[in-house]
Amino acid sequence: MNKLTIRDIGVDGKRVLVRVDFNVPLDEETGAITDDSRIRATLPTIKYLIDRGAKVILCSHLGRPRGKVVEKLRLVVVAQRLSQLLGQPVEVAANCIGSEVKKAVEKLGEGDVLLLENIRFHPEEEENDASFARALARLADIYVNDAFGASHRAHASIAGVANYLPAVAGLLIEKELEVLGSILTNPAHPFAELAGGAKVSDKIGVLENIMDKVDCLLIGGGMAATFLKAKSYEVGTSLVEKDKLALAAKLMRDAAQRGVRLMLPVDVVVADTLSAESKVKAVSVEDIAPDWRIVDIGPQTISNFSEELRGCKTIFWNGPMGIYEMPQFAQGTKAMARLLAGLEATTIIGGGSTAEVVTEMKLTDKMTFVSTGGGASLRFLGGETLPGVEALLNKKA
Ligand code: 3PG
Repeated sequence: MNKLTIRDIGVDGKRVLVRVDFNVPLDEETGAITDDSRIRATLPTIKYLIDRGAKVILCSHLGRPRGKVVEKLRLVVVAQRLSQLLGQPVEVAANCIGSEVKKAVEKLGEGDVLLLENIRFHPEEEENDASFARALARLADIYVNDAFGASHRAHASIAGVANYLPAVAGLLIEKELEVLGSILTNPAHPFAELAGGAKVSDKIGVLENIMDKVDCLLIGGGMAATFLKAKSYEVGTSLVEKDKLALAAKLMRDAAQRGVRLMLPVDVVVADTLSAESKVKAVSVEDIAPDWRIVDIGPQTISNFSEELRGCKTIFWNGPMGIYEMPQFAQGTKAMARLLAGLEATTIIGGGSTAEVVTEMKLTDKMTFVSTGGGASLRFLGGETLPGVEALLNKKA
């Protein structure tokens, strides 16, 4: 990485503003955190700063409050969890800018941690408002971005603030860029991408960018319907992105020209409705009836994909194989998670729903790396520049 990190800058005793991505999933009813992976992932950076006596000022968004205070999106529950993990108190400031916050920062001793209130309670955050970014910057001496998952957003606390403070990367961002970057630069071959999720449109950038690096591309999930339709299969009531049919056909042609093995499902699980009572069956892709919908990959496809992946040295997986939120349609996704967890290969899991599945199944430690970024990892692997990384200081040549 050509960006300076916290290791390249003196942080001892300094006020350090750290943008983290504490956008964690919450239980709808209780408001409790259901997956604290993103909090755990920032611990190395926070501990590094605490150990050097920095005054740590954390800043994050939670959810999409759209510029207003939303009570259930306050960060108190996150502060409590972080405090447990660090074994020291973590106060939540009443706001993220203003005189109260200034006072709270002044009170910080060396090694103390303060969490600013949800930054997206202010519309200026998403507008990347310059005076808001300046107000944030005034709280600190140094800015650290460790919010990999939000680095594709050109927001005030991610991009704007870096105009007013020495700005460096945290250890999580460094790790994410190193691991995800290694897929693009020097993956061990054979290298496979296992792609799923609802839509082709979310994955176009990655599919196009990774095409000349992979040996094999396995396509499942809702997006497989668009590929199957492009090959003139009947896909019933499955979601097909009509405006992406030509692109799917082009990707299949490109793969053939480059000698990339592109594998589609040969059988699928179909359902007549999307409910717990729906009728469900596995059928060949040649036998999908017009009023049924693809909800998962089928057993033969699980077997074909597994065989292919067993022979690979690097696997990047992004996107569930079916509607995994409904247990009866989660078999394919779970089978792929279990398979990858048992392989010797380098297994890299894209963030978002794929990471959620792996965490839920308690398989995180069995994978080489699970990214904390959903949209951010897709943008990065799609070859795009992330504004939150771009804004950081470059290493001297
Ligand atoms: C995420 O969950 O992908 C990040 O926290 C970014 O959130 P956003 O999509 O609401 O910007």
